[in-house]
Amino acid sequence: MKVMMTWLVFLMWMFVGLGATQAEEKIVLKTVNITLDQVTLKKGMSVFADTCMGCHSLRYMTWKKLMDYPEIGFSRKEVDELRDGAPLNARIMTSLTAADAMASYGIVPPDLSVMARAREGHGAYIYSLLTGFAHDPKGRIPDGNYNLYFPGHNIAMPDPLSWLDHDPEDENELREQARTVSSFLVFVGEPHQIQRQATGRWVMVFLVLLTIVLYALKRDVWKDVKHHK
Ligand code: HEC
Repeated sequence: MKVMMTWLVFLMWMFVGLGATQAEEKIVLKTVNITLDQVTLKKGMSVFADTCMGCHSLRYMTWKKLMDYPEIGFSRKEVDELRDGAPLNARIMTSLTAADAMASYGIVPPDLSVMARAREGHGAYIYSLLTGFAHDPKGRIPDGNYNLYFPGHNIAMPDPLSWLDHDPEDENELREQARTVSSFLVFVGEPHQIQRQATGRWVMVFLVLLTIVLYALKRDVWKDVKHHK
């Protein structure tokens, strides 16, 4: 019994120890101001179309929705320029085939529709990833594949914004591209969130009013009972 207890304590101590070292290695993401306003989302979509769509799709977003969601609010003309002949109701799909992707990158780039929601850190993760290409301090992972924020640091995505070794004068523009496309992907991951937040506020106001009315009603109903006491 005593031996078993000793083992148990030892094992628990090990797990706590492991947890602690893992926590120390946890990557801290960059902070970024994700905003879901029209200017940001439009610019983010343009960055997506110019840069990311060469490899990634958004299978849960259609060209038409870019006009229909007032948060993005593209005009028909803007969408026509972006969709480049694809049907209005079509999903936003890359022209890169899986076979070509396998040949070039050894992996098919994931769909980005719900990526921002799926990853811990959400928009901040995408932003950090796009601005996280660096030289491998150990010199093992080649430039363009070493990323400070990707688990294991070796990413098959070749530095899409050419962040590594960028000119200092381009820094602000690159950061803004990364910020807007991250914001756009946060929106795409949950396009109803803005509306839901608005609905949520009205529900709160309604509940408060309902409470006041019910309280007044209760006082009114019990008024006479109290008088008889
Ligand atoms: C030249 C092709 C290419 C382009 C362009 C590209 N990507 Fe990627 N991307 C990839 C590949 C390949 C992967 C898979 C990486 C892996 O798992 O190692 C990937 C993975 C990702 C991931 C997932 C990382 C993870 O945690 O699994 C995100 C997010 C991402 N890309 C965002 C973007 C954004 C945003 C853009 C545009 C600014 C972009 N990518 C442009 C090829 C590309």
